[in-house]
Order: sequence, then structure tokens, then C-alpha cells
Amino acid sequence: MKRFLMILGFCALTTPAALASDSGVHLEPMTPDHRDLPSLQHGAKLFMNYCLGCHSLEHQRHVRTAEDLGIPTDLYQASLLPAGADMGSHITNAMPADGAKNWFGAQPPDLSMVTRVRGTDWVYSYLKGFYLDPSRPLGVNNDVLPNAGMPHALIELQGVPRKVCKQAPEGGRDGLTGQPMTSEQCGFIEVEAGTGLLSAEEYDAAVYDLVNFLDYTGEPYRLDRQRIGVYVILFLLVLYVFTWLLGREYQKEVH
Ligand code: HEC
Repeated sequence: MKRFLMILGFCALTTPAALASDSGVHLEPMTPDHRDLPSLQHGAKLFMNYCLGCHSLEHQRHVRTAEDLGIPTDLYQASLLPAGADMGSHITNAMPADGAKNWFGAQPPDLSMVTRVRGTDWVYSYLKGFYLDPSRPLGVNNDVLPNAGMPHALIELQGVPRKVCKQAPEGGRDGLTGQPMTSEQCGFIEVEAGTGLLSAEEYDAAVYDLVNFLDYTGEPYRLDRQRIGVYVILFLLVLYVFTWLLGREYQKEVH
């Protein structure tokens, strides 16, 4: 019993929600939608362009990705397939593990399961959590993963994010003027205007698509499972009707 409780406790501690809270920051919610093919396609493109240099998706093959995302093979080969890879191979890169550890202080992990381990909210907030920090070796830090060993890979899209202080509402009103009370609060991330290729909304949408794609690679069979689930329920309903009819026949014999 004690062992069972310990295992239960361990499972509770390692759920995405528990992992999410370890840095104590507020995570923005992100709900993936694997049926949104344009979003997944855009996410795949962002991944190949900005992440594959360091991170792999070693459980996922290019051919399966193209099929599931509805991208014709010739288009996939021309625009997404990395040089030297073939459609049947897994989505991997040539990053040497030892070198990566020396360069970044940590090896870039495989991202196939990252949303299942960390949760989509965590990954979404992480990609929005970078800010300039000259004290760090790569010049940036991250709110969600403090002292992260990863550069801000999407900085050209987002622009230059800085930590700023703002006059923020404190709740309550000034007794003399009747104005809402404010006080200076620091730690907000603000992007320097005109430094990124995307607007704030476009950047949020791009990060959404990227996390949506990463979530799909963690569970590429989710849509199949949902489709099959519908057939199974229909089958059970039909079976129920016949079983009921059969039961009625038996009842007639009994009386
Ligand atoms: C230049 C190499 C590099 C690039 C490019 C890069 N990363 Fe990373 N990434 C890393 C390293 C190194 C770590 C490990 C950081 C650490 O643990 O401190 C990391 C960590 C992560 C993590 C945290 C994983 C975890 O569970 O701790 C996520 C999520 C992630 N990267 C996503 C991305 C995405 C998405 C992209 C593309 C937009 C990207 N990375 C581009 C090097 C890179």
C-alpha cells in the first residue's frame, strides 16, 4: 500500500501541470487542434526552418508527416525536406551530441514528446518567454526555463524582447483624486517596435502553429484513433439493437 501511494505521488509530481509550476511563472493556455491542417503545415515549416538545426523529432518520419498534414510529396521535398534526407527517414539532424553540450551547456533534447512531458501551455509560454539578458552566455534568458541554454531561435520573427517596468493597477482608488491606484511593477516582456518580421499577434499565431505541430508529433495517431472510435461506437450501437432483438426472442420462449 505504501509503495502504491509512493508511485501515485510520483506520478502526480511528474504530470505536466506539476512540472509547469516549478518555475513559478504564469503559463498562457494553448489548446492544440490536430484537425487544423493549415496550422500544422505552418508549424512544420517553422520547425524545419528554425528548430531542426538543433532539435530532432526522431519518432516521426517525413513521409508520415507529409501524408498526415496533406502536403503533396513533391511540394514537401521541394520546400521542407532537409538536403540529404529522404522521405522515408526520421526527422533528425547532424548535430553531434558532444559538440552541442559544449556549445550550449546542455544537449538540445529530441522534441517528439516535449508537449506530452511539459504540456502545450509550457512550450507555448517558453517560446514567448525569452528576453535579453547580457549576463547570460547567449545574451538571452527565459522566464519559463530560467538560465535556459537555448538561444532565442525565433528572434528575427518576434523582434528584440526586453524586460521593462510599468505603472500597473494596484486595485483600489486614491482617496483624494479618485483615480485608480498604480505602482511600478517590473518583469514585463516588451518587444522593441519594428525589430521583428511579425506583429505581436502574428508571432503568437506562429508560436501556436509551431506548438500545435509539436503536439501532433507527440501523438500522430490521435486523429486516427478518434476516427476509429466513431466506427467502434456505431458498431456497438448496431450490435446493441441485434442483441436486444435476440433477447426479446428468448423472452418469448421463456413465457
Ligand atoms: C542553436 C540550437 C537551438 C535551436 C536552433 C533551438 N533550440 Fe531549443 N534548445 C536548445 C538547447 C541547447 C536546449 C536545452 C536548454 C536547457 O536545458 O537549458 C533547448 C531546449 C528546448 C526546449 C525545452 C525542452 C525541455 O523540456 O527542457 C524546447 C521546448 C525547445 N528547445 C524548443 C525549440 C524550438 C521550438 C525551436 C525552434 C523554434 C528551438 N528549440 C530551436 C537549442 C536550440
